[in-house]
Amino acid sequence: MTLHRPTPSGPGPQKPLFDVAAVRAQFPILATLIHGKVPLHYLDNAATTQVPDYVLDAVRRHDATSRANVKRGVHTLAEMATDAYAAARTKMAQYLNAFDEREIIFTSGTTSAINLVANAFGATLAAGDEVIVSELEHHSNLVPWQLLKARAGIKLKAIPVTDEGRIDVAALPRLVTDRTRLIAVTHVSNVTGAITDVAAVVRAARSVGARVLLDGAQRASHGPLDVQALGVDFYAVSGHKMFGPSGVGALWGRGEILEVLPPFLGGGEMIRTVTLQESTWADVPARFEAGTPPITQAVGLGAAIDWMETIDNVAAAAHTAKLADRVLAGLRALGNRGVRVIGPANMERRVPVIAFAVDGAHPHDICQMLDSHGVALRGGHHCAQPFHERNNLAGTSRASLALYNTDADVDAFLNGLDDALSKLT
Ligand SMILES: Cc1ncc(COP(=O)(O)O)c(C=O)c1O
Repeated sequence: MTLHRPTPSGPGPQKPLFDVAAVRAQFPILATLIHGKVPLHYLDNAATTQVPDYVLDAVRRHDATSRANVKRGVHTLAEMATDAYAAARTKMAQYLNAFDEREIIFTSGTTSAINLVANAFGATLAAGDEVIVSELEHHSNLVPWQLLKARAGIKLKAIPVTDEGRIDVAALPRLVTDRTRLIAVTHVSNVTGAITDVAAVVRAARSVGARVLLDGAQRASHGPLDVQALGVDFYAVSGHKMFGPSGVGALWGRGEILEVLPPFLGGGEMIRTVTLQESTWADVPARFEAGTPPITQAVGLGAAIDWMETIDNVAAAAHTAKLADRVLAGLRALGNRGVRVIGPANMERRVPVIAFAVDGAHPHDICQMLDSHGVALRGGHHCAQPFHERNNLAGTSRASLALYNTDADVDAFLNGLDDALSKLT
């Protein structure tokens, strides 16, 4: 692959100082009254973040002025749509600091990005080769490898989790062998919020010549990434968790790896030649983007990246960490009423995704009670059943914060939880 560095794609909106009221004003949905009367306190950002006007407008503008299929036409609208789609790829490449913008493959989200790797990279593995995951993984980074195990006879191993809810990288040296081909772990846990020690994972992988995949779904909304500095080989993200539309995400893969992988899905645009009996493949990234891609969604995701670049990330992280500290302290104070944080107790090396268990109360009941206070939480196993089983938990409730959350959201959450505990326990 000859280098084709992403070049700046023009100025996005102006970068103001971080002002939470000004940020909130850009998200129309935050003005919603739940049940027509209580203000929305949206604390389900780990499931899906909300979308600012800037993105809503970009999506509408694209479909109103430039909608056409990409790559296939020579008419003006087709060229406009193709250019807009290419610009979105450039923005994602810059956001992740890819070596080359052709290393970005648009997918429908993190799940499809990981399935792509499990199929394309998985096709290069043989029976007895090992893939290492962790006990903390979202099912999206577990089931694709189980399917590969059934298909190709690979061995699936799991890194244990510490009692603090972190991937126990100290266990890696005894897990990796000369048959290890890939370590596929989450960058940030969608349950405990813990940030993985990626350097230790990369060291262990490189010691046996294995590749590293990071599931970046929960990391991507917390500021720009640098896949080059992380030193990994694959990185997966979801647009709907980074202030963009749903139905789009991206896989970044090192060019030299992608270039020699076979396609995953077959169809239009991923081929060079087709006869009735066989085909040859297009170059990367087209080889991995069979059929019409999520064009409008990718344009919206590009706008979301532009929008995120208007944010002072350091100030935004300090703002959400302060709110998360309040949530953690509030949950700790309820310890004598059966409340336990499942994950690190403070904000060191973690993001503001906070799961908790309540003795004697089901998470769905907690979440339903909180909804009557306008507070949107998530309850259940969060697609991380092995982790919950390890902790003998049927499920947890989870509050996850984004930069538009405020002290009022934390107040509503803590008051609502106090009310729920009085009624449920
Ligand atoms: C850590 C993690 N990985 C993967 C996913 C799956 O993402 P998507 O449903 O966007 O494919 C999620 C979604 O919650 C997640 O939190």
